[in-house]
Amino acid sequence: MIIVNSIPKLREARKALKGDTGFVPTMGALHEGHLSLMKSAKEHAPNLIVSIFVNPTQFGPDEDLDTYPRYTEGDTKKCESAGCDILFLPNVSDIYVPDAKTEVHVSELTNRLCGASRPGHFNGVTTIVTKLFNIVQPDLAVFGKKDYQQLAVIRKMVLDLNIPVEIIGAPTIRENDGLAKSSRNLKLNAQMRQSAPALRQGLLKAQAAFQNGQRSKEELERIVAEVIDDAKAGLRSDYISCVDPKSLEAYEGGEEALIAIAIFAGDVRLIDNIELHKA
Ligand code: PAF
Repeated sequence: MIIVNSIPKLREARKALKGDTGFVPTMGALHEGHLSLMKSAKEHAPNLIVSIFVNPTQFGPDEDLDTYPRYTEGDTKKCESAGCDILFLPNVSDIYVPDAKTEVHVSELTNRLCGASRPGHFNGVTTIVTKLFNIVQPDLAVFGKKDYQQLAVIRKMVLDLNIPVEIIGAPTIRENDGLAKSSRNLKLNAQMRQSAPALRQGLLKAQAAFQNGQRSKEELERIVAEVIDDAKAGLRSDYISCVDPKSLEAYEGGEEALIAIAIFAGDVRLIDNIELHKA
């Protein structure tokens, strides 16, 4: 595995790869979820490039940029054993020039869910992903379905801007108790870690109700909220929203829906979602 820190070195190493290249952009603190994205990329292309970059522009002023977990040494080993060919570890100053005047904005899809509670977050994501795509020039890129809205926004951006990168969505990887794997899980204290599986339990309860014929947006959201409330111990809902899985607008009935949630466990913001279909 070649490790590069600068854009020119990345471009040079990228040129030497023969055949298709898959790309997994990450913010590090790698866990099994990231490794499954890498595995999926390897199934689609012989070459794999991974980036680790904690992107400052997708964090709000009161968010956890400074305390976001960083484990470069352990992450490097994980990338190597996942069969990564090039690991890209840029610095903030390599990626962002101080006088930049350009950012990428996807409208509408970014107004809702996480976009509503994290203003500017998706502009940070779409701008860094566009920059990384331009630097890495992959044939395909893999993103996790845990960040359902992020995946939808990136798919739309790639379509609208004719970016020649195939976007692959990979399933959410979970702990044994159902909690979605996330780098932020490392920040949970013991009590919050115990309460956190309530996110998945609430979503599964709503899924069972949907499969039994429940089609009321309010009722489906209430079912999730009740399970979260019952778990008590510091869980606080940011949003619990039942939406159309394509437009992410409020669900108005029909045989397909998505419930997306963001819940604070103490001060750690966790997200999860479930796609609802007829049984
Ligand atoms: O999902 C993430 O880890 C980040 O949002 C991404 C896609 C690497 C962009 O910084």
